[in-house]
Amino acid sequence: MSTEEYISGETLSRELGVSRTAVWKAVNKLKEEGYKITSVRNKGYHLEEESSEVTEDSIKVHLDHSSRFRAVKVMQTVDSTITEAKRLRMNGKMSEGFIMAEEQTAGKGRRGRSWVSAKGDGIWSSLLLTPDIPPDRASMLTLLAGLAVVRAIKDVTGLEGKIKWPNDVVIEGKKVCGILTEMSAQLDYINYVVVGIGINVNQSSMDDSVAHIAASLSMLSGGSKVDRLGLLIALLQHFEELYESFLTKQSLSFIMDAYNAACINVGMDLKVEAYGEVSYGKGMRVDEEGRLIVRDSEGHDKAINAGEVSVRGLYGYAE
Ligand code: BTN
Repeated sequence: MSTEEYISGETLSRELGVSRTAVWKAVNKLKEEGYKITSVRNKGYHLEEESSEVTEDSIKVHLDHSSRFRAVKVMQTVDSTITEAKRLRMNGKMSEGFIMAEEQTAGKGRRGRSWVSAKGDGIWSSLLLTPDIPPDRASMLTLLAGLAVVRAIKDVTGLEGKIKWPNDVVIEGKKVCGILTEMSAQLDYINYVVVGIGINVNQSSMDDSVAHIAASLSMLSGGSKVDRLGLLIALLQHFEELYESFLTKQSLSFIMDAYNAACINVGMDLKVEAYGEVSYGKGMRVDEEGRLIVRDSEGHDKAINAGEVSVRGLYGYAE
């Protein structure tokens, strides 16, 4: 977004219904946030280039006025955006929205693991949602998020991400994104859901603890920097579109073809670990309830729920 022409402070003040001083202050704030704005006496202001910094304002500028993610909080440092989302909700400060941090000091991964959240290089984010769905459908939101991440990555980098059901996105066998969904619910009623999404975006190398399985989008794009703001806007837009349809249809039927096409486990020989039990089989498809259908060596199909399970290829993390 840029303007060809200059627009005077007076016009801005009249059209926005605010004082000239308020216009001047707002322009200075935008400059501080990285927008390239030139000011010329007797001519006014000219927007040369949009900021690619991730700030609450730069996110909001790109979202529809009706977007549920206009309630946005961007932080420099936080323990975990999931924990922050819960705090905001419990303190009555946010009912639905988007939380993003430049750095997490206690990033949470699945199965009690930690999530390495390098400063400034990733999208460490959480969606706070209040879906009117039965609690046993909440895990479907992880699948929606996975598909939204794949679509956003494709839009912004051209890279073809694959979903490692139910919660990872991989490219060239390396994990670029992990999703962790947590819920507060009663037996038949959801209070809220937090979908935590971590994307490795601009790291030039990965932490030793994860280097064998993970990579960043920049590393997979020959080292060029990826536009984090563009990526997270695309993510929010894709997720919101999928989420609205999901709430209307109350089922995943509308994404089945796209999801299965993007799912790396389909057609793969798998090792499945659930509740201490290990089994083997071939991934057949993901069904409308978000379960992975695995066929054993005797030809029997078993539906696996997207809960606390680990699904791996027989030959490695995603092969
Ligand atoms: C996994 O693959 O184990 C899931 C990782 C989820 C990481 C994200 S980063 C943003 C959000 N906040 C967290 O503490 N975790 C999730």
